[in-house]
Amino acid sequence: MPDPSPIVVDVPPRFRVVTAPWSDAVDARTIVLTESRAFGDGRHETTRMCLQALAVFAPRRQFRLFDVGSGSGILSIGAAKLGATTFGVEIDDEANAVARENARLSDVEARTTFTTSWPEGTFEFVVANILRGILLDLATEIVDRMAPGGTLVLSGLVSTDVPAIIARYSPLLRGRRPEVFERDAWRALVWRPSRDS
Ligand SMILES: C[S@@+](CC[C@H](N)C(=O)[O-])C[C@H]1O[C@@H](n2cnc3c(N)ncnc32)[C@H](O)[C@@H]1O
Repeated sequence: MPDPSPIVVDVPPRFRVVTAPWSDAVDARTIVLTESRAFGDGRHETTRMCLQALAVFAPRRQFRLFDVGSGSGILSIGAAKLGATTFGVEIDDEANAVARENARLSDVEARTTFTTSWPEGTFEFVVANILRGILLDLATEIVDRMAPGGTLVLSGLVSTDVPAIIARYSPLLRGRRPEVFERDAWRALVWRPSRDS
């Protein structure tokens, strides 16, 4: 049997997500994923908005990324393609094994970590694509991992989730309000550094 045709998902402006086996070049925009049950194959709007936020808002220099609920590793791998050193935390250790393999296939293994334990330290870019209830519960832990002047992206939300998420996070972020991005029913919130941070 020949290998099944790979699925190729373009996520403009910066990424394409392809399925293994992938025989073409693994270049600076290509995220290679194995078939798995881990969430994050580039087709869901919540993931796509995070990848697009990374492409547009990530620092144009070396940076550290914290990826909460890393699933297939897709967001960490995308950030590593932009030059980041990444740390993914994920409660499902099977997903972490998948994410490590995806990072290897995508040629960014050396710059990515996937574990079930929360890291020490702070990060210039923090992304969490999880459900509203979990984002509400983890607010303090997430904001504590942000470096001064860092960017926070929260996704996995629908419009009715937005007021509660802003009410929980904005006071922890010196009252700053996020930009709200929407795609179909989905919303992503982005807190970017203010000019005085
Ligand atoms: C919607 S998926 C996002 C996967 C990937 N980051 C993406 O953007 O496509 C959310 C992930 O968060 C994980 N998760 C749920 N609760 C968590 C928690 N308390 N801590 C860490 N990960 C969690 C789930 O197992 C799942 O893999």
